[in-house]
Amino acid sequence: MAGVAGKVAIVTGGAGGIGAAVVGTLAARGAAVVVADMVGDAADAVAADIVKNGGRAIPVEVDVADEASVVAMIAAAVDAFGRLDIVHNNAAAMGDDVLGRDGDLTTMAVEVWDTTMAVDLRGPMLACKHAIPIMVEQGGGSIVNTASVAAHAGDMQFMAYGAAKAGLVNLTKAIATRYGKANVRCNAIAPGMILTPTAQQRLSADVIDMVMRHHLTTRVGTPQDIAEAVAFLSSDEAGYITGHVLFVDGGVTAHLPHVADMYESV
Ligand SMILES: NC(=O)c1ccc[n+]([C@@H]2O[C@H](COP(=O)([O-])OP(=O)(O)OC[C@H]3O[C@@H](n4cnc5c(N)ncnc54)[C@H](O)[C@@H]3O)[C@@H](O)[C@H]2O)c1
Repeated sequence: MAGVAGKVAIVTGGAGGIGAAVVGTLAARGAAVVVADMVGDAADAVAADIVKNGGRAIPVEVDVADEASVVAMIAAAVDAFGRLDIVHNNAAAMGDDVLGRDGDLTTMAVEVWDTTMAVDLRGPMLACKHAIPIMVEQGGGSIVNTASVAAHAGDMQFMAYGAAKAGLVNLTKAIATRYGKANVRCNAIAPGMILTPTAQQRLSADVIDMVMRHHLTTRVGTPQDIAEAVAFLSSDEAGYITGHVLFVDGGVTAHLPHVADMYESV
């Protein structure tokens, strides 16, 4: 079967901005989807919407940082749909209470560092830990981890976030290496600015314009841009792609912003 039709997928953070777009896209293309999110009501609503539109979905309330909760999430997927083909590790601690306090390292609360590592890095690790044996047993599967452009360059803030996402890139390659011969592929996506509903609320038009000056495209990224990449990497058509980091970033990492500023060419 082409694409993701007939496959079973878990999307963590599936009720959020990017996750909801991934869930909707996978379901519309024939996958059965587990909408896994810390906000149970929101997961319920997203899953109900898919079912209303003729798709297959169940909601699962999960805290990806908690091993027992992740074990229950994986079990719910297998109980509902009989197998597990795709895991998209999308959830991250993006709120004001964590990412919003991830600034100057010298004054950062250690709990901000710890929560970032627990959700953004331990979370994907736990999902992989408990999904891979099922994938190996059934003959294969595909994992897509959401990293970030922040994994690949230092910045003035988001130091915990960048470190966690950089760890996730390495974990992606290690999993691809160790389980490739068991037909488990593992790739990462590095999004640039993606205008989710939350980002739209949080960022002023001036800030978005300033950030977009350093992206090379004529428009800002959308959750659907990420959904298309996840759907492709999860599909059999991407069967020869593993251990890869796909930048879906409007070209922001393709150049040196200060040189562009010097010559005003971007
Ligand atoms: N939006 C961007 O510009 C951007 C850029 C680069 C990378 N990313 C990455 O994309 C992913 C999604 O980001 P987003 O912008 O859609 O964020 P978002 O905050 O809109 O959505 C995140 C979702 O994850 C859920 N979540 C948070 N902690 C959780 C936990 N412990 N267990 C289960 N679910 C949890 C939230 O409830 C929410 O539904 C993240 O991994 C983020 O790092 C986003």
